[in-house]
Amino acid sequence: MKHLIDPTDLTLEETNNIVALAEEIIAHPEYYTARMKGKKLATLFYEPSTRTRLSFTTAMLELGGTVLGFDNPQNSSVSKGETMQDTVRVMGCFADIIAIRHHIEGAPFAAAEVSRVPIINAGDGSHSHPTQTLTDLLTIKREIGRLDNLTIGFCGDLRFGRTVHSLIKALARYNGNKVILIAPDDLKLPDYIRHDEALQQTIEFREVSTMEEVMPELDVLYMTRVQKERFLDEEEFDRVKDSFVLNLEKLAPAKKTMAILHPLPRVNEILPEVDDDPRAAYFRQVECGKFVRMALLSRLLDWKNDEAHGMPEKKILSRDESASYVCSNRNCICNKEPVKKYFRVLDGTVRCSYCDSKAKQI
Ligand code: NCD
Repeated sequence: MKHLIDPTDLTLEETNNIVALAEEIIAHPEYYTARMKGKKLATLFYEPSTRTRLSFTTAMLELGGTVLGFDNPQNSSVSKGETMQDTVRVMGCFADIIAIRHHIEGAPFAAAEVSRVPIINAGDGSHSHPTQTLTDLLTIKREIGRLDNLTIGFCGDLRFGRTVHSLIKALARYNGNKVILIAPDDLKLPDYIRHDEALQQTIEFREVSTMEEVMPELDVLYMTRVQKERFLDEEEFDRVKDSFVLNLEKLAPAKKTMAILHPLPRVNEILPEVDDDPRAAYFRQVECGKFVRMALLSRLLDWKNDEAHGMPEKKILSRDESASYVCSNRNCICNKEPVKKYFRVLDGTVRCSYCDSKAKQI
């Protein structure tokens, strides 16, 4: 069965197929109004969200389906101590497909382990956010016209920004893409992505400290929220915060065709004066999110019983080998709930299969 836990769970062909279907739905929404008639989507949101949850809800309603679930786990059996995996087993008896958002990394992977219906990761901790990635790909396709040979600047919180992690993995699968990382030292891209050998082979990384120095080169500027609460040192935050704020002056040397993306919510990293610039694509991006989720829901259900669309093989350590490791991430589902432990070797390092953090030998 096909789940979407990580952007690489979709092959490049499947990714392009979903983006193309989303474009087809944009062109002819009237053909798709009964596509999900009789089908139910469960949205299990363990972490606050406006856009992602309502985008899924609207997507399902526009396809003629219905939606159930919760957006506050305190109103569900979770408050009685039910494990996430048990909640998923139960919801699989009611719904045809489940979208899950969790503050704990690896929770959607753990959900897929026990689910009888397709699971969609709607964001897990600071790890991954593959449906935002599909949204971003569709937006770039529509704004720029292609997904290859692009120079993309990622600016802001690259350490905790799960949308950045997922989008870089997806962009690495198209030819000739260059990624420029623009972040303060404390918020740099995690090593498991920055030094991933497979990614290094297909994508060119460059690190700079200000957006001004690269602005004229960029085809896409991907802005993210710099999270004040993540800084240990307030003085350090005050020192760097203005280098990561986009205003019209900094935008002046940019290409006329550049697209500015932001997963939203924005706090102050894009000044409102930029909103009227034709390059500001972040509200169009929200709309792309709805259409791409319509396409994703359709395809995951189309592919559910199709052997040609399974999950990719993941090379994991045997049970015996895994027994001598623990995941170093305290916010990983494998350290929070009684799930089976899985580890894999990436870049010569043993990593947790749920959250990609380094494993510690015991
Ligand atoms: C982001 C998220 O939740 O990861 N928003 C979203 O899904 N559109 C980004 C953020 O919260 O900063």
